[in-house]
Parts: sequence; structure tokens; C-alpha cells
Amino acid sequence: MNHRHAHRHELIAALLVPTLLFAQIKVEKDAPHRIMLNLTETPATSMAATWRTLDKVRDAVVEYTEATDGPTFKDQTRSVPASITPWKNKDGPEATWYSAVLTNLRPATVYAYRVGAKGAWSEWNQFRTAAERPEPFTFVFLGDPQNDIRTHVSRIFREAYRGACDARFWLFVGDLTTTPTDDLWNKWFDAAGFINATMPSIMVPGNHDYGTILLAGARIHNNELPLWRTQFTLPENGPPGLEETSYVVDYQGARLVMINSNTKLEEQAAWMDSVLTHRRGTWTIMAFHHPMYSSGGGRDNRRSRDAFLGVFDKHHVDLVLQGHDHTYSRSHKLADGKVVSPNEPGTVYIVSSSGPKMYPLNRQYEPIMAKMAEGVQLYQTIRIDGSTLQYRAITPTGRTHDEFELKK
Ligand SMILES: [Fe+2]
Repeated sequence: MNHRHAHRHELIAALLVPTLLFAQIKVEKDAPHRIMLNLTETPATSMAATWRTLDKVRDAVVEYTEATDGPTFKDQTRSVPASITPWKNKDGPEATWYSAVLTNLRPATVYAYRVGAKGAWSEWNQFRTAAERPEPFTFVFLGDPQNDIRTHVSRIFREAYRGACDARFWLFVGDLTTTPTDDLWNKWFDAAGFINATMPSIMVPGNHDYGTILLAGARIHNNELPLWRTQFTLPENGPPGLEETSYVVDYQGARLVMINSNTKLEEQAAWMDSVLTHRRGTWTIMAFHHPMYSSGGGRDNRRSRDAFLGVFDKHHVDLVLQGHDHTYSRSHKLADGKVVSPNEPGTVYIVSSSGPKMYPLNRQYEPIMAKMAEGVQLYQTIRIDGSTLQYRAITPTGRTHDEFELKK
């Protein structure tokens, strides 16, 4: 660039800066933001939406209707009133949270929706309901985002959305942020932005999603989940006391069992046993935070294995999705901790990380692993099509890091 051009660019930049600043400052205090969709326990006929405003808004609703190719859908909408969640603000601005579950939806249908109130609406966003019966679909699995969310998790979120644009939902296995503060959740919404408003998600908490207390100078995770039930609206069909952290969702022929591996493992094992005894669909996928076969740091979660392994083996769980260890590992098909042949019943265990925090590999379980890696950020696509499950782990540069197929 020559000097004259450089000057012109500086001049343009100088003219633009005040406009951009103004655009950033001028956020209406009643404008809905941090809009989040969550799957419900009946994804063919309902969908949950959560959002917030800075000033409390009266008569907040979700307006929704079947989407049309042009804008005429807006002339015939239904609305559902939002419930308001009181939020005790510790570290962020004053804000009010809203949530609503849209029910009686038509299966396999694209809906347009907006949230807010008269004079303060969000944009129209879209989602698609699940089909009622088994049908092929893809979902995205993401390990711990946790650290440097704005700087380093942005590209994996955006690449996952671009690379798996037909995914029906995103599934997270916890440690969504390193501390569940309002400030870090702002960064999450910088990173994921509108994706949260159009791609429903389901998630379970990791250790870092709990609040912390100072004990003898050290930060210890306590029993509170600040913001979890405020900014998500997740199913409450799991064991009592674990609402929205332990639950089951059936999606087009797959049963997804979401477990809170921080607490009450024995109760959840008993609940899982009953959920899997009355299973529906072909595929069973479990998701939780603390891995059964650790591949990171100096870790080993004997408690999880003692509580869960018997149940997984008894019910031939197909796939277990986990995080926490900031490495990548994918086991062979296992039963009772031992490798079985591909034709025998067994379970594949995955550990993955979407964020930039990396641990060195722990090789204690290498003999039962098909693939191990460190230092790589990943998203995973899992496609279920009848008796075939196709799995791919993909890097932010679009490289296929790992893939396999399971057949029934
Ligand atoms: Fe963790």
C-alpha cells in the first residue's frame, strides 16, 4: 500500500470509528439478547427459548408460527407468555431473564419465532422440530469450551456451524466456561452469537459450571450452578434434585441420556437402568463430563466406572461422550473394560475438547484406545441413519482428525 492510499484508509477509519462506537453503545435496555434454544423431552412437538433484557419488560412473550418462504408468516402468529426468572446478580449488570416452552408444534416443520414484547422484539429466528419417527439426522458434540472463549472458542463454534450446517442440535458435556460468571457468558455469546438462537442445544454441567468458594486460599467448586437453570431451559425428566442437569431426550431413533457426573452417581445409575430398560429407538448415547477412561493429566475416575459401567454393559450403550480431560481419546468397542470385536455388543468411549486448554496425554488406557491425541481443538459430527452411526471428529481447519462407523 502506498502512502497516499494509507492516508485515505486512515481517514475512512477515523470517520467510521465514532459510528461503530455509537452502534455498540446504543443497546436498548429492553432489547432481548443472549437468546438460547434448548431441546425439550418432546423435540418433535416442542422447543424451549430463553433470553434476557437489561430493563425488566412487561408482557414478554415468544411469538411463533410455521415459517413461509416470504415474510407473510408474521401475519398469523401464536404467542406464549414468558416466565420470569429472578436472577440475583453478583457480577454482571442488572438483568431479567425470560423463558418459554413452545408446545403443540407440528413435527418435522420449520418455525419462525421472535422473543420480547411490543416495541422491543428480537429478529425472527428459525428452528426445525424433530420428526416423530426414526429418520436420519446429524448432531454436533463439543467437549469443554471452558477457556479463552471469545479469543479461541469462536472459530471452533463458527466452523462447527459452517461445517455441519445441517446439524439438528449441539450437545455439550460441561465446563462451558471456566467460572460461571456473567462476564464469561458474555464472551460465550460473542463467540456463538446467533447460533444459539437457531441451533438448539443440550448440555450437562462439568465441575467448572459450579460456583466456587474460597477454602484455605484455594478455589473449591461448591454445590451451586449459577446461571445454569436461569439461562437454559432443559428437560426435568431425570432423577429428583437434578432437574435440567440429568435428563433424557429421544430424537428420531436415538435415545440421548444426559448425566450430571458431579454428584449422586448411584441414584443416576439406578435411574439410567430404568430409562434404558424401557428404551425406545435403535441407538443409545450417554453424555457426561468426567470420563470413564481418563486420557488427560494424572486423572482416573474410579467412582464413575464403579457406578456406571455395569449399567452401560447391561444395556449395550453404543456411545459415551465425555470431556474434562482436555485431550482426545476414542476407545475400541469395550465391554467390562475389555476390547471386544466390532460385531459383539459393546460401547465406544470418546473424550474431546473444543477449547484451547490442553493437557498432556495420560496413556494408562492406551491399550483399549483406537485413537489418542493432544493439542487439538475439535468438533464432532454424529450421523444416525437407520442401522448406521457415522462419527467424525473435525479440527478448526476442516481436517478430519478421526472417524469410524458403528453398525447394528
Ligand atoms: Fe472439568
